[in-house]
Amino acid sequence: MKVLVVGGGGREHTIVQKLSESKRIDKIYCAPGNAGIESLAECLDIMATDIDKLVEFAESYKIDLTIVGMDDPLVMGIVDAFQEKGLRIFGPNKRAALIEGSKSFSKDLMKKYNIPTAAYETFTNSDDAIIYLKKSKYPIVLKADGLALGKGVLICNNFNEAKEGVKIIMEDKQFGSAGNILVVEEFLVGREVSVLCYCDGSNILPMTSAQDHKRAKDNDEGLNTGGMGTFSPSPFYTKEVEEFCEKFVYQATMDAMKAEGRNFVGILFVGLILTEDGPKVLEYNARFGDPEAQVVLPRMKNDLISVCEACIDGSLDQIELEFEDNAAVCVILASGGYPEEYQKGKVISGLEKFNTKTDYFAFHAGTKKTGNEVITNGGRVLGITAKGNDLKQAREKAYNAISWIEFENKYFRTDIGKAIK
Ligand code: AMP
Ligand code: GLY
Repeated sequence: MKVLVVGGGGREHTIVQKLSESKRIDKIYCAPGNAGIESLAECLDIMATDIDKLVEFAESYKIDLTIVGMDDPLVMGIVDAFQEKGLRIFGPNKRAALIEGSKSFSKDLMKKYNIPTAAYETFTNSDDAIIYLKKSKYPIVLKADGLALGKGVLICNNFNEAKEGVKIIMEDKQFGSAGNILVVEEFLVGREVSVLCYCDGSNILPMTSAQDHKRAKDNDEGLNTGGMGTFSPSPFYTKEVEEFCEKFVYQATMDAMKAEGRNFVGILFVGLILTEDGPKVLEYNARFGDPEAQVVLPRMKNDLISVCEACIDGSLDQIELEFEDNAAVCVILASGGYPEEYQKGKVISGLEKFNTKTDYFAFHAGTKKTGNEVITNGGRVLGITAKGNDLKQAREKAYNAISWIEFENKYFRTDIGKAIK
């Protein structure tokens, strides 16, 4: 069969890598892809958000199945556009993708269906928000309602910071129209865990757990980023936590979406925080995590395409997910300066070292080919993943492997998974 993957980051490279292991697939296309994806798939000069062009391509090349990696096309309605033409596509439709596209929608959903989450208020004008924030307890969390590349969340330690935050989100519109609605949320304390789940509209199958490191600098300091590294599984995601979440979070969310007439098919990414009062939902995403996919998919034994098809066909109850009994760590190599200003166009060396090694992956994110060279083309450049018998070994292997790669101003966190024995 012929498959099209939509996106061009580290997550999509991981998806393409996994698909390339399937005996059922003859040809993979990726739009737009990147320098790493190029070695496994034919990359197309079509942007991930150019839905009309993607539909046109899938029709004329008779693509059997399209898998959407990125959030923007999902929230824009790529699934609806494909389905209107009778094309098979994996991901939630526009109505269901709202669970990621609007934080106020997802908070209201959780409240209505008693899914555990932080207490919150929403505001559509900044004066009301300021009045509320004057009498709030600190720290407090401000969130832009819409998509903001994972950067629309501000943790404020006092009223002055909160006032500035309201200005940034609602008045200066630093995150564009995502800031038309502001969600103000109670600050929660605990370990964070990401659980990515396959969904067929009725059934939900959680994958193994992972933990992301969102802040730019060691010890969780610095600005929030798209994610600086991950490990899987999370030792804090115990059997007890898992059982609680399966009952009160995952299935409850599927049922809630169904009851709202927003059947969710695709990947539901549940961002959890394990508080003293039990697990609570921090956020939902409607797609694989980046860089969570980079540690979860390499550990999955199932054929990805068959699981995606079961989601589309509503037969997920026939699938049993299997994961390797090991661990994986992914360290992001970024361009110095990210998530603020950084340079592009630096030559990357050492990538060939990964070709001959099992258990090691260099997942490309912001890379581009010019002639025979691969150059940096984004903030997050590569995700270096290693698998090991346990987290400690996986971590040692991942940090060893990042020394194989060189480019000017290479930056990475040194403490990914460090707290884990
Ligand atoms: P989100 O995009 O909603 O996942 O938020 C990004 C990051 O901000 C999360 O991974 C947390 O580290 C932090 N965060 C979000 N909401 C809260 C909260 N209510 N309490 C504490 N930290 C939070
Ligand atoms: N790693 C967080 C995300 O994909 O949103």
